[in-house]
Order: sequence, then C-alpha cells, then structure tokens
Amino acid sequence: MRSKVTVVGAGLTGRTIAQELARRDYADVVLVDIVENLPQGIALDLDQAASVLGYEPNVTGSNSYEDTAASDVVVVTAGVPRKPGMSRDDLVTTNEKIVGSVTEQALTHSPDTIVIVLSNPLDAMCHVAKSASGLPKERVFGQAGILDTARFRAFIAWETGASVRDVHALVLGGHGDQMVPVVSATTVGGVPLTKLVSQERIDAMVERTRKGGGEVVELLGTSAWYAPAAAVMEMVEAVLLDQKRVLPCTAYLEGEFGVTELYMGVPVKLGSAGIEEIVELDLSEQEQTWFEESAAAVRDVVGVLGKG
Ligand code: APR
Repeated sequence: MRSKVTVVGAGLTGRTIAQELARRDYADVVLVDIVENLPQGIALDLDQAASVLGYEPNVTGSNSYEDTAASDVVVVTAGVPRKPGMSRDDLVTTNEKIVGSVTEQALTHSPDTIVIVLSNPLDAMCHVAKSASGLPKERVFGQAGILDTARFRAFIAWETGASVRDVHALVLGGHGDQMVPVVSATTVGGVPLTKLVSQERIDAMVERTRKGGGEVVELLGTSAWYAPAAAVMEMVEAVLLDQKRVLPCTAYLEGEFGVTELYMGVPVKLGSAGIEEIVELDLSEQEQTWFEESAAAVRDVVGVLGKG
C-alpha cells in the first residue's frame, strides 16, 4: 500500500518537499495551506507534470485537514520565514501559534502519525508540536541537523576539492548561530579534516556553517528552501522505508549529551517507529562546551513560549 504524507504549508519549502516526494512515487501527498486555492494550484501543477516525469498524479491540495486523514507522516512547514536582519528566534511568537494550531488540527485526523517539524525557530517549535500533538517524543522531531551538516559538507568539498559524497560530517546542537559543527567527527574519505585543512580554514568553515541560513536570507530576502526540503525528504524517506538511517535530527533529550527536557540536534536512528535510538558520541571538550552553550540559547527561546 502507498504511504500518505501531509505537508502543511504550501510555501517555498512545502511545495518543494511535495515535489520531491511526488517524484519518488511511493507516497500520496496532501499539501495543506491556509491560503485558499494555493495548495490546490500547486498540487494541480505537480500532478500535470507526472506523466512527463514518470510518477502517479497523486498530489492533493487542500485547505481542510479532513483530506489529511490517516497520514503516516505530517511535515510542518507552516509559518513565516525570516527576512534579512532577523534571527530565527524573532519568529517565535508568530510561529508558535501557527505550529500549535496546525499540529492540533492534523492530529485530529491522524492520531498515530509521525510529525516532522521544519518551522523556525526549530528547536522551540518542536516543543510546541510535541505538546499540541500529545504524541510520544519518538514521534515528534525536527529537521535542522541534516541541513546544517549539508552546508558544512558543501564548504568542505569546495575547500578540499574532494567529492561532497566523500565528506562525512556532523552538525549538532540547536538550529541557531551557536550550533555545533563537530570537527572531531568530520572526515574526507576517512581522513580526519584536521589532517587536510588548516585550523584557520576550519574555523572559517565552522563560522560560515553557523551563519549558513542567514547568508542565504541576505541574498534572497527570505529563507532557503531547496536544501531544507532535501533534508526533510531524507528524514521522511528514512521513516517510510524503515531505513534505520543514522542522521542528525532534533530530538527530545532526557539526559543524553548531558541535557534534559530539551529538543536539540543529535544523531538518531530513524525508522518506521520514528526516532528509534539516540546515538551518543564523545565530543571534544570544546565541542561539549559549545553544545552546552547552544542548549542554553535554545532554553532561552523555549522560555518565551506561551507568553506571546
Ligand atoms: N496554516 C497553514 N498554512 C499556513 C498557516 C496556517 N495557520 N500560516 C501560514 N501558512 C503557510 C503560508 O500561507 C505559506 O504558504 O505557510 C507557508 C509558508 O511558506 P513560505 O512563506 O514560503 O515560507 P518557507 O520559506 O516555506 O518557510 C517555512 O520553514 O525554514 C522554515 O524559517 C522557515 O519557518 C519558516 C518555514
């Protein structure tokens, strides 16, 4: 039987996720938005591309959650994106209301679904989705680490001239400027990055990764969507195909990495049950300090929830 995936938010990211999913052709896709006609129009366009690109025209656009019933996965992209000069945290009060409301509505029709959050500020929005859904922590998690790691991998590929496919890296922590590129776990074809690139160049790549989202916002005037959508796609696929991928995702921590009751980016094993394991690794002293500083920054934003 084909799976069913709902993507809430038919904006730049949501429609790109829908397109990626449609092209893989193993799931029916429902695209939901608050704006009338928008998801219907995008779905129609995607369905009319199907015969040429070789997939079934099974994308539905809707303003009603009834059409989302019995979804295996619900992806939440609804909300406002950043504008130049804004941090992700500036979005918290607006997006809290949107993420809470859409999660509640989606859960009414898919009570056993898995929720993947993309709306920013990501770590705090995962808390909102967890409480609005009432789902166990294994079934509510966020996308940030795959995107942040993908940015770091691109910079390393350019710096070393090696194929990006052979760059293995990991970016953990909160999805903010204090995220933690884990240099100690970064290799190119198995060779530690520190053997290939000077510390000065590594520091520059770490800094560019931390500000990677902002760099795109400054160029485009809004948030990135291709790389975020690709990252979500990798997570949806790991769940639908029960792949047991080990990927950096935003998970609810209860003591792992020394952090409690907080969503943070950590390596997890992803399969049909959602987060099937949190994979712990040894961080260097500096990385652990960065992780704790990042946790403090996430806690500050989570502390604002419910006060808007
Ligand atoms: N219900 C459903 N859809 C909503 C709601 C709501 N209550 N509120 C807003 N939306 C929709 C908007 O109508 C819009 O179509 O969410 C969509 C957001 O799309 P964009 O503005 O294009 O934003 P996008 O770039 O896709 O980013 C979405 O992901 O990366 C994060 O920071 C980014 O929080 C932002 C989110």
